[in-house]
Amino acid sequence: MNHEMKSPVYVTDTLISQDIDAYLLKHQHKTMLRFITCGSVDDGKSTLIGRLLYDSKMIFEDQLASLESDSKVVGTQGGEIDFALLVDGLAAEREQGITIDVAYRFFATDKRKFIVADTPGHEQYTRNMVTGASTADLAVILIDARQGVLTQTRRHSYLVNLLGIQNVVLAVNKMDLVDYSAERFYDIVADYSHFAKQIGMDSFLPIPISGLKGDNIVEKSPNMHWYQGPTLLGHLEEAPVSDTRMLDQPFRMAVQWVNRPNLDFRGFAGQIGAGMVRPGDAIRVLPSGKTTTVKSIVTYDGDLDLAVAGQSVTLTFADEIDCSRGDMIVQSDQPCEVADQFEATVVWMAEQEMLPGRPYLLKIGTQTVTATVTEPKYEVNVNTLEHLASKTLGLNAIGVVNISTDRPIPFEAYAQNPDLGGFILIDRMTNATVAAGMIHFALRRSQNIHWQALDVNRDAHAALKNQKPAVVWFTGLSGSGKSTIANIVEKKLHALGKHTFLLDGDNIRHGLNRDLGFTDADRVENIRRVGEVARLMTDAGLIVLTAFISPFRSERQMVRDLMAPGEFVEVFVDTPLEVAEARDVKGLYKKARSGQLKNFTGIDSPYEQPQNAELTVNTVELTPEDAAERIVQYVLREMS
Ligand code: ADX
Repeated sequence: MNHEMKSPVYVTDTLISQDIDAYLLKHQHKTMLRFITCGSVDDGKSTLIGRLLYDSKMIFEDQLASLESDSKVVGTQGGEIDFALLVDGLAAEREQGITIDVAYRFFATDKRKFIVADTPGHEQYTRNMVTGASTADLAVILIDARQGVLTQTRRHSYLVNLLGIQNVVLAVNKMDLVDYSAERFYDIVADYSHFAKQIGMDSFLPIPISGLKGDNIVEKSPNMHWYQGPTLLGHLEEAPVSDTRMLDQPFRMAVQWVNRPNLDFRGFAGQIGAGMVRPGDAIRVLPSGKTTTVKSIVTYDGDLDLAVAGQSVTLTFADEIDCSRGDMIVQSDQPCEVADQFEATVVWMAEQEMLPGRPYLLKIGTQTVTATVTEPKYEVNVNTLEHLASKTLGLNAIGVVNISTDRPIPFEAYAQNPDLGGFILIDRMTNATVAAGMIHFALRRSQNIHWQALDVNRDAHAALKNQKPAVVWFTGLSGSGKSTIANIVEKKLHALGKHTFLLDGDNIRHGLNRDLGFTDADRVENIRRVGEVARLMTDAGLIVLTAFISPFRSERQMVRDLMAPGEFVEVFVDTPLEVAEARDVKGLYKKARSGQLKNFTGIDSPYEQPQNAELTVNTVELTPEDAAERIVQYVLREMS
């Protein structure tokens, strides 16, 4: 996920102008805490962030951008910026940034550097909040002391907990407006405790503050002597960062690349995700399971005796075992699991709804595999925490699904290790990130169902028929002529002694697929099943012809990927919509135009034309007979 930051240019720390090296040194050796602020719209988020930036006297150019027109502000030095103006500027910038992603702000104190993710509060920005929270070590949940725990407080707390953020601060803000009342504070804390238990949040730290007045932000508030805990900044400076937490876990490192400058050196480079490693440690490479020991830990600054979570290193092995990019190096006696089917929580982030059965790219650590999701087991109503039945997930929806990948991947439950259990899904056609997910556990069936090797295999079947199996895949609008042409092609091939079988949309929808309609999700499933059936029939040695609209590129590609190169022949039956509609053989276009038939391809449901079809037949120029003859010629030429 994107957490790029603009480089800081305008800094009020005077050291930078006097001695740049000293300044850099001062900041370089500090740890970095990433945190997120969340809460309802009026809980005072901008004021709080403004207060932290203002009091730590670190104001950067991007944070000033929206204030630039004001001559009073530009050019001021040494923290003379008007506090109210700064807060307004932050709020305005966040509103503008909403549609892009998340506003990240940087500040530092003498002890630590901070990146705070500032995300909008409304439900329609759930995905932004998830993006911001996915890299956070800590979350500050803001509550307006006058309002108490609200729906948004609950939703944000649920998301923070879902993402495994272990350090939660409940900042009860605007204490000045409730007369700094201890009673009010403890009421809210009790209320929140009750809810926290419900969602399984182990602990949180409540702090009474006023962002506006500065109470308990940097200095202990003289107005709340009854509060004995740390100030907000004090806590932020002390809270553990994630790398420290990962230290206690067994060693894991995903291989980013193999470093082979010459024949004598082979090193495996990556960032240590968890635990630590020393030369001589016994390790295992996953998924292969091969074992060896670490020979050396190489860095630019020389070899190390010890490397820990968060460090980027190159490992060399005592033995020449296979290990490549995407593999996982783990402690030999405490490996992580390897599986190809999981249960996971998914946060949907795309306008287009989730399509169960469609292949997406799944990126986890340094690995990218192809994956499909099932229909949700349930969707979560993030406001009430109810589980709802649902067939898909729309933008900002959260649900639990099963996922299967095209090959086994090493992983850990997200709750244990966010690096090894967190993934994103990417649309294969647009390359857009469509979801973020968290693995719960592997499904046991993934270990228990094995591919059965059969003695009479596809080659044996095909040899007996004296032909090469293939799928000739017709695609095109309803009424374009797919069935008509496919039918003639089959007759011709049959007459030539070929063993064929024709799968036709209308027919399959009477039997195998009679439970499916014409929503996007159902069409994906329709093609997925037909693809699998066609594939089985080629295993039987047949030349399979299919006539389905198959409107989406993704699913046609999916079937292509099921087949060996050259065995999938995509035939685009190219008939303009006007022509198909004018023919209207089944009277369906008329029904669709009059609104009696919904989701009709070409009318109110999309058709994605092939871009690399093996053959295109234009039915305006060619008769069905001529079109069929061309296809037969192609098949005979390429498939014998
Ligand atoms: S696909 O989109 O899932 O590939 P398929 O080829 O199986 O569709 O079925 C298309 C046939 O179903 C059409 O030729 C038409 O006869 C019929 N049909 C009924 N409703 C629709 C609809 N809404 N959109 C397209 N075709 C429909």
